[in-house]
Amino acid sequence: MTARIIGTGSYLPSHVVSNQDLEKIMDTTDEWIRSRTGIEQRHIAVEETTTSMAVEAARRALENAQTDAKELDLIVVGTVSSDRHFPSTACEIQSALGAVNAVAFDINAACSGFLFGLGIANAYFASGSFQKALIIGAETLSKMMDWNDRSTCVLFGDGAGAAVVERSEEGIISMVQGSDGARGNVLSCHNRPVNNPFVKNDTALDYTSMNGQEVYKFAVRTVPEAISKMLKEANVSPDEVKYFVLHQANIRIIESVAKRLSQPAEKFPTNLQRCGNISAGSVPVLLDEIHRKGMLQKGDKIVLAGFGAGLTWGSALISW
Ligand code: ACO
Repeated sequence: MTARIIGTGSYLPSHVVSNQDLEKIMDTTDEWIRSRTGIEQRHIAVEETTTSMAVEAARRALENAQTDAKELDLIVVGTVSSDRHFPSTACEIQSALGAVNAVAFDINAACSGFLFGLGIANAYFASGSFQKALIIGAETLSKMMDWNDRSTCVLFGDGAGAAVVERSEEGIISMVQGSDGARGNVLSCHNRPVNNPFVKNDTALDYTSMNGQEVYKFAVRTVPEAISKMLKEANVSPDEVKYFVLHQANIRIIESVAKRLSQPAEKFPTNLQRCGNISAGSVPVLLDEIHRKGMLQKGDKIVLAGFGAGLTWGSALISW
């Protein structure tokens, strides 16, 4: 048995920040951001929180899947920007939805969070546990940026995406996941330092730091390798795949992956121009957008792929 996606939903904050808006508050240009990344604007939370966006995305996914929250056995949220250390975002969502029968927890796999969550649901279903799960990627990365660091803050946006998955004979065909903690420092954000009556610690709050070129090299090598390995294991040619729904970090990364897989750019839908990089929210938001546009038909083969801090990466080949 495997996991089948039966509904999707997403939520983006109403406040839109264009590259031109950023030009007014920092030393950057629309031309620099657009030519290096493809990003033209991003949605930034003002009224919203990670939990409020996740709840709205979840409600839309449940409605789309015609599923009552009480049917859910499992809620997994991929996030690195929860509102509270505890309770988890997943438990807050469970409460807001009235999903009283669900086990709920968060996972930290950064931009791979949705893919890892899907893998967890798939494993539960395969082992005979649970029938329906809600997998969410939700982020408010804007609160974790140093807005004086133009090399990172221009890249990210806020938002949430969700999918309802059910135990089924068909759905996920194959998955590949990996991590490389030895390279963790290329993209990181420290939590609170040790601080108690026995330690003197006045370290300032940390923000996201990134070695962009190392992340770029990691992505353009690892993502096509992981996808190729997964397709080979499933005995599926890249030509048979209708869409490659990749993490939306940078248009140049997506173009490079397309080239390495010898696939046309049209098979790689994008929303990074409008949304920037939403980390764990990126793949499920884009999946929801193409689903609602009617671009997916039953039986289509789709590849989902996430990659990011950890370092982590994950991809899934699914039959829609
Ligand atoms: N506006 C104007 N100039 C800038 C900006 C900015 N926003 N940011 C950096 N610069 C300057 C730098 O200061 C530097 O100037 P200098 O040459 O005078 O020192 C110059 O631009 C070049 O900087 P680089 O960092 O070398 O620029 P690069 O061409 O590598 O592009 C980028 C940076 C876009 C981050 C690129 O490395 C990249 O795409 N990396 C992939 C990482 C990524 O996408 N991360 C997203 C999060 S990770 C994830 O989701 C997987």
